[in-house]
Amino acid sequence: MRICVIGAGYVGLATGVMFGKLGHEVVCVDIDGRRLRDISAGRLPFYEPPLEKELRKLVKNGMLSASGDIKKSVARSKFVFLCVQTPSLSSGKIDIRALKTACRDVARAMAGADGYRVIVVKSTVVPSTTDTVLKPILEDGSGKSIGREIGLCVNPEFLQEGSALKDSMEPSRIVVGAHDKRSSDALARLYSPIKSSTFRTDLRTAEMIKYAANSFLAAKISYANEMANLCLRLGIDSEQVLAAVGEDPRIGKLFLKPGLGFGGSCLPKDVRALKQKARELDYPAHLLTAIQRINDEQPDEAISILKSVFKDLKGLRIAVLGLSFKGGVDDVRDTRAVPLITSLLAKNVEVVAYDPIAMSRFIELMPTIRYASTVEDALTQADACVIQADWPEFREIGRAQFSKMRNPVVIDGRRLLDPGEVEASGAKYFGVGYGRARRE
Ligand code: NAD
Ligand code: UGA
Repeated sequence: MRICVIGAGYVGLATGVMFGKLGHEVVCVDIDGRRLRDISAGRLPFYEPPLEKELRKLVKNGMLSASGDIKKSVARSKFVFLCVQTPSLSSGKIDIRALKTACRDVARAMAGADGYRVIVVKSTVVPSTTDTVLKPILEDGSGKSIGREIGLCVNPEFLQEGSALKDSMEPSRIVVGAHDKRSSDALARLYSPIKSSTFRTDLRTAEMIKYAANSFLAAKISYANEMANLCLRLGIDSEQVLAAVGEDPRIGKLFLKPGLGFGGSCLPKDVRALKQKARELDYPAHLLTAIQRINDEQPDEAISILKSVFKDLKGLRIAVLGLSFKGGVDDVRDTRAVPLITSLLAKNVEVVAYDPIAMSRFIELMPTIRYASTVEDALTQADACVIQADWPEFREIGRAQFSKMRNPVVIDGRRLLDPGEVEASGAKYFGVGYGRARRE
């Protein structure tokens, strides 16, 4: 089967590689020429080593190619997956301009092409976008009708960055939302080699499943953060509390890790978008509002711990370790490092920032702060360090590095280090949800 993927980002490339590995011939279309050159050379435009390894193999054996020619790529394909970005507008609504442009291009390409093909919306869009906005664009531009000459599906993606390939090959579930039975049968058949529970729904239900899932993940994190903030003020270690809470199978252990809030290209924007949709429907969505508010304020938890240690932060040098939105990825979209560093700078703190992989991307967001080339360099003469992202290599920080600090104080924003080991290596340990700060 020939498959066309429009938008060669995280989702597009994970989808392309997954179908390539299942034996289909995949073409990835993008408007970014540099991205296309990278893919053609077997290189991923982002840091995801296992996915890159498979991409390289597929490019080499001709099963996956990159193209800027949408017309030809669509005309030759039986399935077209729309995987372009849907970022937040300042109102919180999603920006679907890229998706509308891609739909117009796909529609034009279909106008002159014979045969039945299925258009699959994989980008995350709020319920009713596909049937009320995208469907008319596809029909008007192609002169063909959906349900007869064209199939239309919504197939949300649930992968996590950092495990994109595994999550694509072994998804927790597959959602096939479809306009009609023929489209649904075709997409379900395409996915049949992947063994997972499949939910066949209409278009709006599939759109809503994606938002409901991400909102729940966000709710768990904001809940964990609120419990952790309370534990800290009570002088209790939240890790012990949440470990015991998570043992209840009705609650579950995952996504109960407190930190400096959830970042990334999806959880924050999806909560914002669903909240905006609720507002349009005159529904107050109190839970979504609370999830977002806790998350917005969570980076300040590091500031409040720092203040409990130093009283006045002015003139201190603070190392911020980890700039990506989580460890293991180079994605800096909506990273909590931005509000954290912004708050530190507002308190006249000198910030030295370090990340093992994401530094070059982060520099574009905050070009004027000082960057260090190693953890040791960042810690040298620092009065404190804040761990913002859970990079595995930060677990190795010990006496040799702490001894470079003017004042060895560690604020563990992701509960990565063992408090006892840090203290044994001569530094003072404070963590999100770790009661020492208030007890002292
Ligand atoms: P991305 O920004 O990494 O990639 C989008 C790509 O689309 C870019 O390469 C861009 O150049 C390209 N593009 C934009 N307009 C185009 C056009 N008209 N024609 C061809 N290409 C075009 O985006 P992403 O992170 O892969 O996210 C894509 C969608 O999937 C979003 O709706 C997101 O919410 C959703 N999603 C993302 C993830 C994730 O982990 N990143 C997971 C699940 C769902
Ligand atoms: C998230 C979801 O986990 C995916 O299922 C979904 O497909 C994706 O969004 C999406 O829709 O794009 P991802 O953005 O890769 O995936 O990131 P997560 O691993 O979910 O982490 C998000 C943020 O929450 C990170 O900042 C992370 O540090 C934080 N987090 C996560 C916590 O603070 N505590 C936790 O227990 C888990």
